[in-house]
Amino acid sequence: MLKGKEIVLGVTGGIAAYKAVELLRLLTKAGANVHVIMTRSAEEFVTPLTFQTLSMNPVSTSLFNLISEREIGHISLADRADLFIIAPATANFVGKIAGGIADDMLTTTVMATKAPVLIAPAMNVNMYTNPSYKENEARLKERGYQFVEPAKGLLACGWEGEGKLQEPQVIFEEVVAALTPKDLAGESFLVTAGPTREEIDPVRFVSNHSSGKMGYAMARAARRRGAAVVLVTGPTCLAAPWGVETVAVESAREMLEVVLAKAGASTIIIKAAAVADYRPQQRAVEKIKKTDAPLVLELVKNPDILGELGKFKGERLLVGFAAETGSLLENAAKKLTEKNLDMVVANDISQEGAGFNVDTNIVKLLFRDGSLEELPLMGKDELADVILDRVAALRQRLAASR
Ligand code: CTP
Repeated sequence: MLKGKEIVLGVTGGIAAYKAVELLRLLTKAGANVHVIMTRSAEEFVTPLTFQTLSMNPVSTSLFNLISEREIGHISLADRADLFIIAPATANFVGKIAGGIADDMLTTTVMATKAPVLIAPAMNVNMYTNPSYKENEARLKERGYQFVEPAKGLLACGWEGEGKLQEPQVIFEEVVAALTPKDLAGESFLVTAGPTREEIDPVRFVSNHSSGKMGYAMARAARRRGAAVVLVTGPTCLAAPWGVETVAVESAREMLEVVLAKAGASTIIIKAAAVADYRPQQRAVEKIKKTDAPLVLELVKNPDILGELGKFKGERLLVGFAAETGSLLENAAKKLTEKNLDMVVANDISQEGAGFNVDTNIVKLLFRDGSLEELPLMGKDELADVILDRVAALRQRLAASR
């Protein structure tokens, strides 16, 4: 995801500096080459050795260290970087950059770069709301510096409020988003994900093996590419994607209700949810007690959400998924026509590495014009981007034909 990207991670002196270690791990795991610059006070909280070991690059701490200046060189780092992320950023650091002060390795390099700079502040709530800090922040925003706003919560100083460094996963998400071209800006996505649960009684339900990973990957990728995204999700173990309006539902009928309410405002609908096709005819109010006689459950058909959407599709793009265990293309083509779709992502879930509960997928894309594209085994994040590439191309073609 960040393969080939040169990122400078600036760490300033705050107790949240330990979280920068986790951020570094996320960045390197995603393929980035990370160069860490620490301020003098940051070294009081975490040692340079930790960052050096995990980044596999020398850590810069002093502007006037002859060896480090020869090996790293603050200007060459400023030129080479695709992006700077300062996490945590103290009020002192923000004030210095806003005031044009460059008196150490980090401030000098930040002032010398033309790369985008993301600043993730962390400080006491009273410092964060201090007019002096706010003025500095506003000045930097005006100049194009981007901020990863701090979270609210219990602060290390004992106060409660805004000023908590955002979670490393959120900062990572903002780094990826800042490096992603916004080719889907202006689009409004509605994505569904996960299974639905159809209750039998207060303790049991009918469901399926969907993990929600594919739908969540689609929602994340669309948001990174600049779209506004609503995610309607059945029960999953996944964290709600950052920057996405997430609505949690349980049953197919609840999903239908939310989807219909949100569909009007959307331009692209991606229906990755594995909706339960049937629900128990009656939900028992009390727990069903076991007896020696066999238990027969009468199931009735659930509404076909995608089928309903197909009826009033208009200029919207509709993308469906087809999870099959046989006659893949035939079944997928049938869904494409019957549900009035623009594209179907078809996967044979009996193949190893495809389908439910894994991080990869092997799919075939079928289009309304009859064309077919076979994709190799790939990670769900990567696949989400390929699907969005095709969606963007379809939108462009549609716009050109108007
Ligand atoms: N879908 C839906 N509502 C349903 C069932 C399916 O919106 N009640 C959507 C899914 O989100 C998916 C597509 O329809 O995008 C195909 O789902 P799938 O389960 O593969 O097929 P079904 O249409 O349910 O048909 P079958 O179970 O017979 O294969």
